[in-house]
Amino acid sequence: MFTNKLVIVTGAAQGIGNSIARHFAGEGAKVIGLDIEQVSIEGVEYRQCDVGDFQQVKEVMEGIHADYGAIHVMINNAGISEFQSLWEVTEEDWNRVLDTNLKSVFICSREAARFMSEDIRSIVNMASTRAFMSEPHTELYSASKGGIYALTHSLAASLSERGIRVNSIAPGWIHTGDASDLRDIDHQQHWSGRVGDTSDIARACLFLSNPQNSFITAECLTIDGGMTRKMIYEH
Ligand code: NAI
Repeated sequence: MFTNKLVIVTGAAQGIGNSIARHFAGEGAKVIGLDIEQVSIEGVEYRQCDVGDFQQVKEVMEGIHADYGAIHVMINNAGISEFQSLWEVTEEDWNRVLDTNLKSVFICSREAARFMSEDIRSIVNMASTRAFMSEPHTELYSASKGGIYALTHSLAASLSERGIRVNSIAPGWIHTGDASDLRDIDHQQHWSGRVGDTSDIARACLFLSNPQNSFITAECLTIDGGMTRKMIYEH
């Protein structure tokens, strides 16, 4: 399905993005990882880019198009999780988190969409279950992820005239480190009986980008082992 298709994954140096890039490469895609850190995955090309910077994104997309032609899949995964007391948040903090997490999704989607014209035209944005529910002192991250949720259906509306589908994924707890760090209680609090891993999200990116699933657009797929449906009362 994705053999020789051009797939761009932001934040591919580590964590979820790394797994997404590996999965698409495993399907035979031509994968380009955009990150501020080096992406070291066999068969994946690295281009350095701060995805929150309009000019850098514009230039990197133009360069990719010049080298390889049409873009098929854009995965907007890069993001930073910063949690701090709302009383201490500075304007600089606000701009850093919102630029990296939200502005990036807008500009990467638009600049990639300019070069989407072939059979597969899919954009997938990484939101979070924190778009829908909160712990205290998570304002910047939650705002950025709620923004991605809304931006996704807005982009899906605008880009439908070009046949581009735009969806988001809301991951819950996805462990990106050593599995042995997790406790039994971490797993058992999920209805799935386990914490998520990065491949849970990567497979969803393959599913959403598969043109056989062309009736799915403007949707947000929550992948959280049931946690956002879990009703909690203290007895
Ligand atoms: P991570 O911190 O392991 O990896 C993020 C990647 O983004 C890194 O490679 C980093 O260098 C890159 N990055 C950061 N700022 C960048 C910038 N300005 N330009 C380009 N690249 C940049 O994060 P993780 O856990 O893999 O998360 C990936 C995405 O999934 C993020 O958007 C995160 O908010 C979201 N997410 C993660 C969850 C989790 O439990 N791990 C849960 C819900 C959402």
